[in-house]
Amino acid sequence: MLDLILPAGAAWAQVLDDRDAPALLPQEAALTRDMAPGRLREFTTVRGCARQALARLGEPPGPILPGPRGEPRWPAGVVGSMTHCAGYRAAAVARRSELPTLGIDAEPHRALDPGVLTAVSLPQERTRLAALRLRSPGIHWDRLLFSVKESVFKAWYPLTSRPLGFEEADVSLFPDGRWHAHLRVLGPAPRGFAGRWLSTGPLLLTATAEPL
Ligand SMILES: CC(C)(COP(=O)(O)OP(=O)(O)OC[C@H]1O[C@@H](n2cnc3c(N)ncnc32)[C@H](O)[C@@H]1OP(=O)(O)O)[C@@H](O)C(=O)NCCC(=O)NCCS
Repeated sequence: MLDLILPAGAAWAQVLDDRDAPALLPQEAALTRDMAPGRLREFTTVRGCARQALARLGEPPGPILPGPRGEPRWPAGVVGSMTHCAGYRAAAVARRSELPTLGIDAEPHRALDPGVLTAVSLPQERTRLAALRLRSPGIHWDRLLFSVKESVFKAWYPLTSRPLGFEEADVSLFPDGRWHAHLRVLGPAPRGFAGRWLSTGPLLLTATAEPL
């Protein structure tokens, strides 16, 4: 599924449940003492996906530890991203020489709580969502917008080590499976990201590897 929205050069792995997840490596397990069972399961399973994806790049197995803001620390010369939601865990990685950054996100394909939508979107985004809803009512465009912003943040943060507010990305979604995010930030940072989205069964998937 992810391959449909990832560019060439990315290696990826995904699973739909936590059965058969390989055990954590000791450095990872040392971080899990206070995790609730559900969090421990997703943390464990997605690292299995990440090691599988890294093996496809020819990388040996190693711990994938979080940095100070939760960002995964990949082996030298590798970029990547991980996501988990109910019924889905996935990781994507690439050589930095092939792709500058990666951000992926998965969300359940259902409406976003209206309060959440207001908190994460700009007025002009909500106007565009209303037009998309009329054109293609089968897609929960509000949830898709949220997922795009999560993918943007996961691609942005490793490049900049800077926070990014939901109001700092102005996202345009296109029915043909593309999206653009224009960033309202100053300084030597990407001006935006372009990516792709996919609706598949109960899931919405988004990905970017393309800073603008
Ligand atoms: C970090 C965040 C993006 C994760 O997204 P999510 O939809 O809640 O959760 P997902 O399961 O899809 O992704 C979780 C994974 O994201 C990755 N992640 C966490 N922080 C990250 C960061 N700073 N940079 C890159 N990736 C990060 C981790 O791999 C994490 O999994 P792990 O903890 O098991 O290693 C989200 O919780 C967050 O903090 N959002 C606020 C910032 C934001 O989105 N701003 C909008 C900008 S337009």
